[in-house]
This record gives sequence, C-alpha cells and structure tokens, in this order.
Amino acid sequence: MKHLKGNRLSGKNVIVTGAGSGTTGYGLGQSIAILFANQGAKVLVVDIDSDRASRTVNTIVENGIAASLCVADVTIADQCQNVIDTAIENYGNLDILINNVGIKGLGSVTDLDEEHYNRVLSVNLSSVVLMSKYAIPYMIDNGGGSIVNMSSFGAMRSGGFGPAIPYALSKAGVIALTEQMCHDHGPAGIRVNCIAPGHVYTPMVKDRVNEEQRELRRKAAPLQTEGNAWDVAWATLFLASDESRWISGVTLPVDAGLLTTSPISMLDKLTN
Ligand SMILES: NC(=O)c1ccc[n+]([C@@H]2O[C@H](COP(=O)([O-])OP(=O)(O)OC[C@H]3O[C@@H](n4cnc5c(N)ncnc54)[C@H](O)[C@@H]3O)[C@@H](O)[C@H]2O)c1
Repeated sequence: MKHLKGNRLSGKNVIVTGAGSGTTGYGLGQSIAILFANQGAKVLVVDIDSDRASRTVNTIVENGIAASLCVADVTIADQCQNVIDTAIENYGNLDILINNVGIKGLGSVTDLDEEHYNRVLSVNLSSVVLMSKYAIPYMIDNGGGSIVNMSSFGAMRSGGFGPAIPYALSKAGVIALTEQMCHDHGPAGIRVNCIAPGHVYTPMVKDRVNEEQRELRRKAAPLQTEGNAWDVAWATLFLASDESRWISGVTLPVDAGLLTTSPISMLDKLTN
C-alpha cells in the first residue's frame, strides 16, 4: 500500500457509499476508500453488507489508519440521514461525499422485469439524490464541499454484451443530476462532478464476462490495456480534492479513450 500514501486529502472527512469489499479483488468504492484514507482523509465506509464494509475498514486499519463503517441501504431516506449523522458524530463535519453505490441492470424495454427496473433506478440514481439531500446542509454549514457521483460509459454508449436499459437510464440520470446539482449548489461552494468508468475489471464484472469478452473489452479502447479499480480511484481523488477547486459539473471518462472510438475504427483491432 506504500504507493497509495500521500497527504492530498489531509484534514478531510469523507463518506464513500458502496465501499464494501468482496473476496475476489478490489471494487471501485473499496479502492476509493482505501486510497483516500492513505491520502490523509477520515473515511466513513458505507455498504448494505456489513461483512463487505468490515473487510474494507479492516484493510485500512491494518495499515495503521483510522476509519469507521456504517451499514446502510442508501435507497432508504432514514438510513441516508443516519449515515450523515454518523459521519458528523465521528468526524465533526463533512467535506467530501462519494456516491459510488451501483448495481447492474439488464434487459430491454420489452423484456425487463419491472421490480428489477425500479430497484436499479432506486439504487443507482435515487440514492445519489437522498445522500446528497442530507449531506449538502452540513457542507453548506462547513463552508462548502465536494461531491463525486459514479456514472458509467454505459450511460453514453449503448450495446455492450446485451441490453441494459435500467443501468443505462440510471447512469445517464446521474450525469444530468450532477449538472443540475452543480448549478443549484455552486453558489454555496459545493462542487459536484461525475466519473464515467469504461471497461474496468472489478469483481462485479468478473461475474458477468468470460475471458474472451474480457479480452475484447481490453482491445476496444485505444490504449488497449485493462483498467482496474485503482485507475478510477486516482481520478476520483483529483475531483474530490481541492486540486480541482475550480472544476464543477463535469463528467470525466476514465476509459482508456474508449469514448473517442467508432465501431469502424476499432474493427481491425477487435478482429486481430
Ligand atoms: N466495474 C465496472 O466496470 C464499472 C464500470 C462503470 C461504472 N461502474 C460503477 O461503479 C460503481 C462501483 O462498481 P463496482 O464494480 O466496484 O461494484 P461492487 O459490486 O464491487 O461494489 C458495489 C457495492 O455497493 C454495495 N451496495 C449495493 N446496493 C447497496 C445499497 N442499496 N446500499 C448500500 N450499498 C449497496 C454492494 O454491497 C457492494 O459492496 C457502481 O456504481 C458501478 O455502476 C463500474
């Protein structure tokens, strides 16, 4: 973990949602929580699953850094309020909120399951509204803050390995929400930005793509390398920290250049 060390978030109090850890590699929220803690922040790790949340906190604490956890379902307003209250109780105030939580959402409009559709919209989009609703008043009292929301390449390009209407819609909503929140809360000193990861290989993806598809994902982007959770965590660090103090309302692709490509331009790379 030595290479993660620094002081870019010294004195900052942070909440990361969906920061729990599986047992097979690093997820995005988990990497963000670990990196931020190593950069001097006090991090509240939030996840619906207490084992996952504990694993991330233990990884941080084992390295001699303090961190705490809060088990919550961020689709429920009372639980979001409780997350914010816990952060204030533990750390005194709140500087940074990372709305990372997200689940996959498959199906076309003709075959999707309505219950699944509503759940994905609730987890991926409404949770950002709820967490921000309760965090922003504290940030205003604190003189400002930084919010980073997790969207996806899938919000801007369709296709992939099958229809994913609930996912695409929810992640497109996150971009619109980011821009609107930037406008509404900028005068109070609150910056709101967004990350759109491309074909990052994480445990969530591991369950969904086979090795052949994984290789196609790697070759599809101009850099032709596979991204991991740490690539997203470093980009999130920049947008969360004061280094980006004059940046608000942007969606930053972290995708090895994937968004610049057209199917024709990549044809030879994918078939060779
Ligand atoms: N992995 C990728 O390639 C990729 C690409 C683009 C965008 N993203 C986005 O990045 C984010 C993180 O993805 P990941 O791959 O690290 O996922 P992950 O599954 O590893 O982590 C998500 C975490 O969120 C938690 N969670 C789920 N529902 C919750 C709820 N209601 N309340 C609180 N916690 C809840 C899960 O328990 C899990 O620990 C998601 O928003 C995802 O859509 C991922």
